[in-house]
Amino acid sequence: MEKTVRAHTNIALIKYWGKADAKLRLPLMSSLSMTLDQFYTDTRVVKSDQDRFFLNGSEQTGSSKQRVFDYLHVLQKRLGQTGHLRVESTNHVPTAAGLASSSSAFAALAGAFCAYYKLEVSRKELSRLARLGSGSASRSIYGGFAIWQKGTDDASSYAYALDEKPKLDLQLLAVELNQQPKFLSSTGGMSQAPSSPFFQPWLARNQEELAAMTKAIQDNDFSRLGQLAELNANEMHAINLTAAPGFTYFEPATIAAIKLVQKIRASGIECYYTIDAGPNVKILCQLKNVKEITKQFVSEFENAKIVMQSFGPGISYLD
Ligand code: PMV
Repeated sequence: MEKTVRAHTNIALIKYWGKADAKLRLPLMSSLSMTLDQFYTDTRVVKSDQDRFFLNGSEQTGSSKQRVFDYLHVLQKRLGQTGHLRVESTNHVPTAAGLASSSSAFAALAGAFCAYYKLEVSRKELSRLARLGSGSASRSIYGGFAIWQKGTDDASSYAYALDEKPKLDLQLLAVELNQQPKFLSSTGGMSQAPSSPFFQPWLARNQEELAAMTKAIQDNDFSRLGQLAELNANEMHAINLTAAPGFTYFEPATIAAIKLVQKIRASGIECYYTIDAGPNVKILCQLKNVKEITKQFVSEFENAKIVMQSFGPGISYLD
């Protein structure tokens, strides 16, 4: 059935940043994320006489088509399916700018693939299939908060819902400082990260960080959640800087945004940041402070686009 499948992006509060198995996309650590309501991808898979990929209405021919079809061919082989496909995707999120476009892209693609071949798969199976396209996509099957347990092999590495309808007052302001695609893919960054002397100690802390974040969510403790998320993101970016060779996704504007969050927080308005594989910054805050924080960001970053988000839903089938 040619169904359009919608998947929302997710932002990791405890990050996945290292692969145990690159081909199967098995991670070195478990991760935990928040699914967003405003950023999502709609994808439809239809019959075709040749493989074609359309993104936001325009046909793709280069590496993005290659990545999509490498993935679809893996799924076809695994699930015993054949035939050429036409993939039509619309991204309601900037592509490849560290705003988690691949999480929604591959979750929607996995869902649309299964719908096209009328494969009945559980959400757990779908999470495993999405993982093969992009690790973070395993978490976009669910709404609210999701955990991707690292597992030990293909069968045991999948995400599950921690809380799909959280009561916590948590807003995320996505500050798009730069819409350019990132200079280094997350796969590239992840392959360099383990050379940092801080990587193994960070890995050793993973279960502890995950448990603390889970508890903060269960306790509806915004402050603790924000502190833990900011620390975890800083750990990831410190690892990048100290890798051999070192690198960073930060741009001057990223540092300026970090300083502004610190300044606003020092003034008594509680907010925290998290940053992924790109220069853009996501601010975690509570509803009552959204206006003031936005005002301060708009006045310092004239050209920044700020999108206010809260919890989004899991994967859905539109027609
Ligand atoms: O799934 P990928 O390859 O897009 O990697 C995601 C990496 C981070 O966004 C930095 C962290 C995460 O867990 O989403």
